[in-house]
Amino acid sequence: MTYLHSVERYRTAFTAYLETKIVIKEPLTLYTPITYISKLGGKRIRPILTLMATDFFGGNPTKAMDAALAIEMFHNFSLVHDDIMDAAPLRRGKPTVHKKWDVNTGILSGDALLIHAYQLFEAYEKTVFKNLVTLFSKTALEVCEGQRYDMDFERRSDVTLAEYLKMIEYKTAVLVATALKIGAIIARADKRDAEAMYQFGKNLGIAFQLQDDYLDVFGDTATFGKQTGGDIRENKKTFLVVQAVALASETQKEALLHWYTIQPKDVSAKIEAVKTIFLESGAVEETQKQIVRYTQKAFEVLELISAPDSKKQALKEFGESLITRMV
Ligand code: IPE
Ligand code: IPE
Ligand code: MG
Ligand code: MG
Ligand code: MG
Repeated sequence: MTYLHSVERYRTAFTAYLETKIVIKEPLTLYTPITYISKLGGKRIRPILTLMATDFFGGNPTKAMDAALAIEMFHNFSLVHDDIMDAAPLRRGKPTVHKKWDVNTGILSGDALLIHAYQLFEAYEKTVFKNLVTLFSKTALEVCEGQRYDMDFERRSDVTLAEYLKMIEYKTAVLVATALKIGAIIARADKRDAEAMYQFGKNLGIAFQLQDDYLDVFGDTATFGKQTGGDIRENKKTFLVVQAVALASETQKEALLHWYTIQPKDVSAKIEAVKTIFLESGAVEETQKQIVRYTQKAFEVLELISAPDSKKQALKEFGESLITRMV
């Protein structure tokens, strides 16, 4: 089977499974928003990675469906709450839950999604269950830590590259890594191989977040599905900002720091000015370089695992598709 076939097959099978598991019931005000965000789509990269990793280690992907759904539900929970924290109006091309309903609806539906995610692990026998829950809880807490750094950094203008990298490792990369490791656990892979798979996912996840930072500025709302310029509006210390501060001339740097300490009435002027500094300082170029670098790093880790080349190739092609994406 060709690579594209297998990814599409996993996406279709996973979506069909999700459709049967996520249903509207009473109280409608709790479950309608859950169904809304879950069925809006999205790329489904994390569950696909879980299924691919299970297959990679010789397991049965069908047995990994519940865990894959748990990862996607956790992801959806984190998005609903993230959109409240980031004051984001759009998600997957549609109004965010707190905009369509209200903030309280977003909080509670998010909570229920998180609990539902945990519940899905009950499908696994004792040892696997314990391993899955231990990993999942550790990761979930790290995501909270990453989200907290992300918000704390909005108020700072001296965020270092190391601090930034730790922040995105926690808010984004560990969940990608966990999606893969969960597949390894279900397939009962060797511990060292499972850890290597985690490291592959972590590097891929870092590249993925760098691309997300890039698309937040230079993407197209119609395909990206999120309001572009949102990170600039919210004074997020993205990779572009950290790099621009490091690479820009004194004048550019001063202008940049000025824009990031005020809340201007005309946000579009701020967005345009900052965009220009990102481009002219070389920050955009550096971002693109680092996306390739982290992806390469991920691929190097994959080589440490003993598995058929065809299986590694499928993961690599999927990895490539994530960083060349515009969505
Ligand atoms: C969005 O994740 C949050 C980030 C970590 C950047 P995705 O880009 O995977 O979102 P969906 O699920 O495809 O909508
Ligand atoms: C992604 O952060 C991390 C989580 C959602 C936990 P972002 O804030 O960059 O994600 P998007 O861009 O809103 O999808
Ligand atoms: Mg955020
Ligand atoms: Mg956000
Ligand atoms: Mg983003």
